[in-house]
Amino acid sequence: MNSLQVNLCKKTFPGVSQAPPHQALASIKFSIKRGQFACITGPSGCGKTTLLNILAGLDHDYDGEIHLPLTSEHQKAVIGYVFQAPRLLPWRTVGQNLTLIKDRSASTVDVSELLSLTGLTDFCHAYPDRLSTGMQRRLALARAFVVEPDLLLLDEPFTSLDEPTAARLRLLLLEIWRRHSTTVIFVTHDLREAIQLGQRIIRLTGAPGKVDLDIPILLSPTERSDTQVVEAWRTRILQAG
Ligand SMILES: Nc1ncnc2c1ncn2[C@@H]1O[C@H](COP(=O)(O)OP(=O)(O)OP(=O)(O)O)[C@@H](O)[C@H]1O
Ligand SMILES: [Mg+2]
Repeated sequence: MNSLQVNLCKKTFPGVSQAPPHQALASIKFSIKRGQFACITGPSGCGKTTLLNILAGLDHDYDGEIHLPLTSEHQKAVIGYVFQAPRLLPWRTVGQNLTLIKDRSASTVDVSELLSLTGLTDFCHAYPDRLSTGMQRRLALARAFVVEPDLLLLDEPFTSLDEPTAARLRLLLLEIWRRHSTTVIFVTHDLREAIQLGQRIIRLTGAPGKVDLDIPILLSPTERSDTQVVEAWRTRILQAG
């Protein structure tokens, strides 16, 4: 099986104190072919992060089935996860945050090249608390790339970045995706960003979260950077469903 297959019926969080249990996800069913770049959109609280945590194997408490794609060597898929809030090792330098993860994987990625691509070369020996939020986001991105993932999960990775930096990192993400034929699931609440990046948009509604739209985005790279084309698709998607 070479696609990611998701068939979730229900995900409920237990109630805390007197609060009743909370059903975060209902019917989530889709499959993503190996190498496809899919974007997941939906309003705050509809369960996007909950879904990524399940796909990443961080949460096993759900009803349903997930089948991860096999690698070409039929081994367990390597997953890279860029969390919604960068989770870095504060007691390790920027360089060590990358090499520690790399050394635990079979990755052949060049860490210096990755530092250069993300504009962090000069901060290789700095600790994460000396970095701006945007720089921490770039490091979190580099850390997900360093394992050469078969499945890359990104949870609003470019939020809080200035637009030129976000645009540069989107291009970097696309370049790495094309090079490694990684399957990508990119969560964003920004429909324009989803249209610029994704081959497909899966829209969730809440609550509980369920899929209400799943459409291919048939655009060339040139069309994706054309504001008018993106706006036309945005209108079409907003009116769909
Ligand atoms: N650990 C938890 N315990 C209880 N409820 C939770 C927990 N994590 C998430 N939830 C609830 O599940 C729902 C979905 O949360 P989730 O973080 O997945 O939403 P989201 O779509 O990622 O939102 P955002 O766009 O704001 O990041 C929310 O109502 C949230 O309060
Ligand atoms: Mg979230």
